[in-house]
Amino acid sequence: MHTSTKLRIPTSQQQQLDAAIMDGAHRSPAARPPAPPRSKMKLLLLVIATNLVSVYLFSGASLSLRLPAGAAAPSIHLWDSSALLRDLGATRAALAAARAEVAALRAQCNASSLLLESVLAGLGAAHGDKPAAADRGFDGWPEEPTGELRLATEPHRLPLGFSAKLGTDELHPGVGFACRNFQDELARYMAYDAGGECPDDADALELQLILKGCEPLPRRRCRPRSPARYVEPAPLPGSLWSIPPDTTVNWSPYACKNYTCLVGRARARGGGGGSYECKDCFDLAAGGKERRRWMSDNGGPGFSIDGVLASRAPGTVRVGLDIGGGAGTFAARMRERGVTVVTTTLDVGAPFSAFVASRGLVPLQLSLAQRLPLADGVMDIVHAMQLGGWVPGAVLELALFDVYRVLRPGGVFWLDHFACVGPRLNDTYAPILDRVGFRRLRWKASRKLDLGAERNEWYLSALLEKPLT
Ligand SMILES: *[C@@H]1O[C@H](CO)[C@@H](O)[C@H](O)[C@H]1NC(C)=O
Ligand SMILES: *[C@@H]1O[C@H](CO)[C@@H](O)[C@H](O)[C@H]1NC(C)=O
Ligand SMILES: *[C@@H]1O[C@H](CO)[C@@H](O)[C@H](O)[C@H]1NC(C)=O
Repeated sequence: MHTSTKLRIPTSQQQQLDAAIMDGAHRSPAARPPAPPRSKMKLLLLVIATNLVSVYLFSGASLSLRLPAGAAAPSIHLWDSSALLRDLGATRAALAAARAEVAALRAQCNASSLLLESVLAGLGAAHGDKPAAADRGFDGWPEEPTGELRLATEPHRLPLGFSAKLGTDELHPGVGFACRNFQDELARYMAYDAGGECPDDADALELQLILKGCEPLPRRRCRPRSPARYVEPAPLPGSLWSIPPDTTVNWSPYACKNYTCLVGRARARGGGGGSYECKDCFDLAAGGKERRRWMSDNGGPGFSIDGVLASRAPGTVRVGLDIGGGAGTFAARMRERGVTVVTTTLDVGAPFSAFVASRGLVPLQLSLAQRLPLADGVMDIVHAMQLGGWVPGAVLELALFDVYRVLRPGGVFWLDHFACVGPRLNDTYAPILDRVGFRRLRWKASRKLDLGAERNEWYLSALLEKPLT
């Protein structure tokens, strides 16, 4: 940190200078009340201070670097070796003296630089400026991060110095930019016993931060407590359709305290409350709704998995991603067909991630705000069911371009039951999908009636191909 602080001094000076010049000269009177005499005074002081320092430095340099008269132009006695040695000795002494003077000069430079800094800081304070974050090397944090947060956010030097492969001599940890907006919550989240057990409130706080776009999160050095009486998962393939024991989950963040409660909520429609999506996806009972999902084509927005797979050359759909995949049933059905699907989950209101994992599938904790952690052109299929009119248009567009990015040429995006109010379908969402560049293979819109016809809500399901060229 020391070196980087040192390196930042010139930039912060430059910023202060720029800011001072902006204040004093460039802002038009229309944009700002007439500049008070104090700011002109400030500019004047600044100019004087800068000039004083330069005059001092240049005069000092030219005076101090003059070599002693005798050594200035030593005559070389080529044939007299003892005289030659004497001359060399004198030159060496002169050089040492000059070096000492350079060091002294450097110290004076440091002092002048500090002086200039304190003058500028004084000016800033007189102006009522908040200490600029860049000044302190906080990289834009409202408060300087300390302790565990600092450790997790500051750059760390590579032990072997500059790496040509990485193109840097330090590593910056990945912490979401949005985290800076929630520093109080983040400070609470990061107040933990490093090397010990994670606090119990972890899940709830974590989720709040992620939902607001603060991800990836910086907590890295504690051990979450394992649930008491943990039971190891059932073996595949039985695990795909079995509800795990309640003791596999830490229930403290949830209103329900067991799977019976989660399943019961689905059966008691409307009862149970809770604001989470996918209320009925924990009910894996034979003949239940979850078992029937994607098993048949209903002629409308309900496509079947087999129908979608049949639209591609056999065996060419092998790996995929299910965005907002709830309890993981899409991935389970795909697994039964030899397709590996990773499910993105957020534990809003229920332990989706633990449930997906207990089924023997991969849950990936990711919000819609984050760029997908996948390289370009690697997925055969992306499925998304939880998208809808609740997503801001711009965010949706970013997410859909990202889906396009990770799909391979000829890969398909299955937009499943996208819900929105009627007019938005044609004036907002269809144009976004077209802008992204997908080719429509199937497109089915139909009225969504569960909340009443007068709301004019619609479902859109679409099978969209990323073109081969
Ligand atoms: C000048 O200051 C830097 C840190 O700000 C320090 O590392 C360096 O040793 C100082 N130089 C002298 C000659 O005092
Ligand atoms: C499940 O949890 C609910 C409260 O959420 C409780 O009333 C019920 O007795 C529990 N059932 C079982 C089988 O543990
Ligand atoms: C959207 O436009 C199509 C024609 O392009 C029309 O058939 C359809 O009814 C419109 N959908 C809605 C929800 O307005």
